[in-house]
Amino acid sequence: MSETKIETTVHGMMAEFTTVDSLLSACRRVRDAGYTKTDAYTPFPVHGIDKALGIKPTVLPWICLIAGATGTCIALAMQIWMNSIDYKYIISGKPFLSLPAFIPVAFELTILLASFGAFFGMWALNGLPKFSNPMFTDPRFDRATDDRFFLYVDASDERYDAAGVRSLMADTGSDYINEVVEDDSPKEVPKPVFLIWGLSVAASLVPLICILTMRVTNSSQPRFHIFFDMDFSPAKDAQQVTSLFVDNRAMRSDVPGTVARGQMEESLDMLTGIDVEALTLTDPPRVERLVRAYMQADDQAKAEEQETLEKEAEATDEATEAAEAAPASVMDTTPWVEKNPLTVDADLLATGQQQFAIYCSVCHGMDGYGNGLVNQRAQSISAPTWVPPASMHQETLYADKYPDGKLFSTISNGIRKMPGYAGQIKLKDRWAIVAYVRALQKSQNASLDLVPDAKKAAVEKAVEEAKAELKRQAEEAEKAAAARQQAQQ
Ligand code: HEC
Repeated sequence: MSETKIETTVHGMMAEFTTVDSLLSACRRVRDAGYTKTDAYTPFPVHGIDKALGIKPTVLPWICLIAGATGTCIALAMQIWMNSIDYKYIISGKPFLSLPAFIPVAFELTILLASFGAFFGMWALNGLPKFSNPMFTDPRFDRATDDRFFLYVDASDERYDAAGVRSLMADTGSDYINEVVEDDSPKEVPKPVFLIWGLSVAASLVPLICILTMRVTNSSQPRFHIFFDMDFSPAKDAQQVTSLFVDNRAMRSDVPGTVARGQMEESLDMLTGIDVEALTLTDPPRVERLVRAYMQADDQAKAEEQETLEKEAEATDEATEAAEAAPASVMDTTPWVEKNPLTVDADLLATGQQQFAIYCSVCHGMDGYGNGLVNQRAQSISAPTWVPPASMHQETLYADKYPDGKLFSTISNGIRKMPGYAGQIKLKDRWAIVAYVRALQKSQNASLDLVPDAKKAAVEKAVEEAKAELKRQAEEAEKAAAARQQAQQ
């Protein structure tokens, strides 16, 4: 028995006291005797005990300070590097290197590292974590948290000598002194702990193994969905059929009136030929309908608009029926734009002439009389459904009866048998054609009043010359005919 005791590691010597005062005086005695590796255990904090034991103040505040300062430096260095060197990016108009802006992060990191320093520094200084303390081997030590005070001298102290310490402690009036020895309870970890540990490790590997096997094997089963996300969304490709919408089309058209950002360069007036601005004040729903009808080729809107026109016509007809028994004709009350929104100049007319020649002349003829090549061909084969193109020179198409906006709309959307050309002719070119058609009309029917005074004489002279020339040609033709007749006879 004594042999085992010798083998047991001795950690130090402890003495029990019943009062704070006896403990404190014992502490002073031990300190004065030169021992430094000492400690006291009390159920509550005892003031002055560190002094009595000669314990130096802790260095924890310094650790804390250094850790905090490190945090400040890291945060500032990081932000200065990022914001003013590596990735210069103006944020709220601040300079790249703006200390006030860096304060919050610097503050946070300072606090974080300082608290880490305090927390881990405390652990390190106390030699934690420690699962057991040799003091616990003595059952009397349990009262250290209750009503007893303990003084401890560590065996690693330079001056340690079991007999000397024991007598010193006895001198201080302690009635219980005991050597602190290593715990002799079994040190092996109980077997079930290994079993539980092994089982948990094995269990934790199961999901990993499942994932790995699934990654390398093929399966005919549908995928296993933990989160559905959008895996089962009824996504459709272009031009596919769907039962979701009434029209069974998977592709949805724009909501009427949609204009892509940046695409609306022109005013609605210019796009429709209708004086939308004036109408917006008096009849907003009609504006919407007209835009749908004339800009988005919405047939339903067109029909609705036609209906309103007819109703309006009926109302006016009823009012005037007594006066004139005119047949119910649909009067156009659409507020068309009266004047071409583009500046009419030689350039615009040249564009209009060119566009008219390309797109309109085939039917309406270069002169606008409605006898273009398509018409000639249709007449020659007596095409049964052919409607002759209108002549641009009929009075009903003059600017006073047929405003520029309406002409624009006819070109854009077509009218009755004539197709619309909005898809082929650019917006401004359509207005250019409008300007050219006006010029064309004037070319065939204009009074001398329209000619500036300065040029009147010249024009009159030219007209006279042209008349004379025509007369001369007619006379020549007559002469030639007479000559031919003579020759035949
Ligand atoms: C494919 C032949 C064709 C082309 C090309 C054509 N039109 Fe017409 N246009 C017609 C026909 C046909 C009519 C008569 C429609 C009706 O009365 O049913 C007509 C009628 C018109 C009218 C009279 C509309 C009214 O309200 O009575 C104007 C104005 C007009 N066209 C202008 C043009 C202009 C400008 C162009 C060139 C952008 C053009 N057309 C291109 C065939 C054509």
